[in-house]
Amino acid sequence: MVSASPNGPASPRGQTLLLDGITQRYGSSLAVDGVTLDIRGGELVALLGPSGCGKTTLLRIIAGFLAQTKGHVMVGGQSVDGLPPNRRSVGIVFQNYALFPHMSVAENVAYGLDARGADRATQRSEAQRMLDLVKLGHLGDRAPRQLSGGQQQRVALARALAVNPSILLLDEPFAALDKNLRLDMQIEVKRIQRLSGITTILVTHDQEEALSMADRVAVLSQGRLEQFSPPTEIYDAPDSLFVNTFVGSANLLGGVLLDCDRSAGRVRLDAGGLIETRAPKGDLRPGARVTVCLRPEHLSVDPAAGDGDTLNGVVEMGLPLGATVVHEIRVGDGTAVKVSEPRIQRADLLAPGTPVRLAPVAPRLASVFAAA
Ligand SMILES: Nc1ncnc2c1ncn2[C@@H]1O[C@H](COP(=O)(O)OP(=O)(O)O)[C@@H](O)[C@H]1O
Ligand SMILES: [Mg+2]
Repeated sequence: MVSASPNGPASPRGQTLLLDGITQRYGSSLAVDGVTLDIRGGELVALLGPSGCGKTTLLRIIAGFLAQTKGHVMVGGQSVDGLPPNRRSVGIVFQNYALFPHMSVAENVAYGLDARGADRATQRSEAQRMLDLVKLGHLGDRAPRQLSGGQQQRVALARALAVNPSILLLDEPFAALDKNLRLDMQIEVKRIQRLSGITTILVTHDQEEALSMADRVAVLSQGRLEQFSPPTEIYDAPDSLFVNTFVGSANLLGGVLLDCDRSAGRVRLDAGGLIETRAPKGDLRPGARVTVCLRPEHLSVDPAAGDGDTLNGVVEMGLPLGATVVHEIRVGDGTAVKVSEPRIQRADLLAPGTPVRLAPVAPRLASVFAAA
C-alpha cells in the first residue's frame, strides 16, 4: 500500500517528523510506552530493537493505519493525527513487500499514482522513472512472481517512492534477503535516500544494519526508548546496560564503585584488579554495586604475571577469526571474558592453561551501570 495527499502540489521532501509522547495499548498490554523522537528533515533514522519491542506498531502509527492511545505525530510541524493513511504523504515498504500478484511490476509501481488520479501517461512515465531508479527499468512487464526476492524488494521500494512521499517507512526491508544481496540493497537504499533527501525510518532488529545505514539510531526495549544517538555514540557511549549488550558484544563484570566524577570512575572488580571507566550512568555513589561492560576489543592479553591491581586469568581457548583473534579467558571470579585483538599482533594463539593479565587498550573505555 502506498499513500499520498490526493490533491495539491507534490509533497516536499525532507520533512521533519516528530513523535511526541506516543503510547500504544493493545487491551491491557503496553506495546509502545511514551516514545518521543524528534527527527530532522532528510534524516535516516533506524528503529532498532528485539522482536516485539514495538517497532512495527510505531510505523503503523506514523503511517496512520493505527490510531495511537496517547501522543501526537507531527509531519513538517503539522499534526497528522486526524488524517487517514492516504492523506499523510507517507510511503511504506512492508516486511513482506506485499506486491499485488495479479498486476505487472509497472502496474504495482503505478498503483499509488492511479489511486490519486494521475493520468495513464503520467503513471507510465513515473513508474518507468522509479523502476530505472532501482535498476529494474527493463522488467516492468513481468509479474512479481517472475522476480527474485531482491528484485521484488526493489519494486516495493519503487512503489513506495512513486507517490513522492515526504516520509519513507521501511519495515525490516532486507530481512528476507541473503547476506550478499542484503549488503547490495543496503547500499542501494542509502544511495536513493541520499539522492532524494527523503526523511526515512528504517525498522530493523539487525544492529549492523542500523549502525551502518542510519544517521541516528533509536534503540527500543519493551516499548520504551532507551537511547537516540548517532551510531558511534550508541556503540561507544551506551546510555544503558540494555543498549551496551544489545548493540555489539560486551563482557559483564561485577564490582564496587570506588570513586567517580563527571568524566570518569574507578571500579574494583570482583574478579580482581582496578579499572578506570567512563563516568557511571545514573545516580551512583562510591560503594555502589555496579556492572562494568567491557567490549572484547577494549582489552588485550598479556602473557605476563599480574599483581593485585590487575585483572588476571587463565586462557581457556583461542579462536583465529582471520583478521582478528579471540581468546576466552577465565578470570578470578569464574567469569569467561572474551578478548578480541588484531591477529597480526600475535602469530601464535595462546595455549589453554596459560596464565595471563588483561589490560585495557586505553583508559576509560568501559561503561558502568547499576548492578543488574
Ligand atoms: N494487533 C495487536 N493486538 C495485540 N497485540 C499486538 C498487536 N500487534 C502487536 N501486538 C503486540 O505488541 C508488541 C509490539 O509488537 P510489534 O510492534 O509488532 O513489535 P516489533 O515490530 O518490534 O517486533 C508485541 O508484544 C506484540 O505481541
Ligand atoms: Mg515488526
